[in-house]
Amino acid sequence: MNLIETGYSEANAEEFSRDGSIKIHSAADFEGMRKAGHVAAACLDMVAPMVKPGATTEAIDTAAREFLLDHGAVPACLGYRGYKHTLCTSINHVVCHGIPNEKSLKNGDIVNIDVTCILDGWHGDTSRMYSVGTINRKAERLINITYDSLMLGIAQIKPGNTTGDIGAAIQQFAESQRCSVVQDFCGHGLGRLFHDVPNILHFGTAGHGDVLKEGMFFTVEPMINLGRPDTKVLADGWTAVTRDKKLTAQFEHSLGVTATGVEIFTKSPAGLDRPPYA
Ligand code: MF3
Ligand code: CO
Ligand code: CO
Repeated sequence: MNLIETGYSEANAEEFSRDGSIKIHSAADFEGMRKAGHVAAACLDMVAPMVKPGATTEAIDTAAREFLLDHGAVPACLGYRGYKHTLCTSINHVVCHGIPNEKSLKNGDIVNIDVTCILDGWHGDTSRMYSVGTINRKAERLINITYDSLMLGIAQIKPGNTTGDIGAAIQQFAESQRCSVVQDFCGHGLGRLFHDVPNILHFGTAGHGDVLKEGMFFTVEPMINLGRPDTKVLADGWTAVTRDKKLTAQFEHSLGVTATGVEIFTKSPAGLDRPPYA
């Protein structure tokens, strides 16, 4: 996701190829995103049975990389701003951008797995929560609230509505459930670029922000916390955690604005929308 306020500071080719305007895409472009989104979502389906006590996020990362390559796609995160993995694996109080490693997952952990692939030049970016073994009820509740907040945000998407309508729907629901919305990271335009305008804030005011138009592509990827919204990035330069170390969860879809509403490009082909997946 985009880092709000500072943005990514390091200039690269992606930055230079942005022109600041929100791109409007054609029917052929929708077909490209459909294919890329399908492979990314199928990758998240493929890893589901791997997420269990004793498994390492490194092994899951390797399986994801091989899956994408086998399906003619390229891992977008591998080499992105120096990132060395296919997935982000964010466990418990890790908000986003957790780095796969050799440590074993433990019974009761909750994990967000985020994958982005590039297929025929189009980006598919999606993440889901996974439960490791048996999780406690507050973790289960947070996961459900986060999933529902994503889908309520997406339900606001149609031409004429605004990015603020998406953020307001997410924030109102999450806060009504006594959770908080992370404000330091946001969703983003994508397509041929990984991170583009518009920024999709997961909080805000209905009617504010950019007006949605048919042909826009972007992600919605709310991060919802059981405690305070505040985050910090660890010394590795990637791992974002909740400052109060309380649990956080996230789901992400890539989508396009259609004439009448929205098309989700990253729906699970196997119907593995939220845990439990077994
Ligand atoms: N997939 C993340 C997003 O939702 C971005 C990860 S960038 C990485 O935008 F380099 F950390 F992988
Ligand atoms: Co994203
Ligand atoms: Co992502």
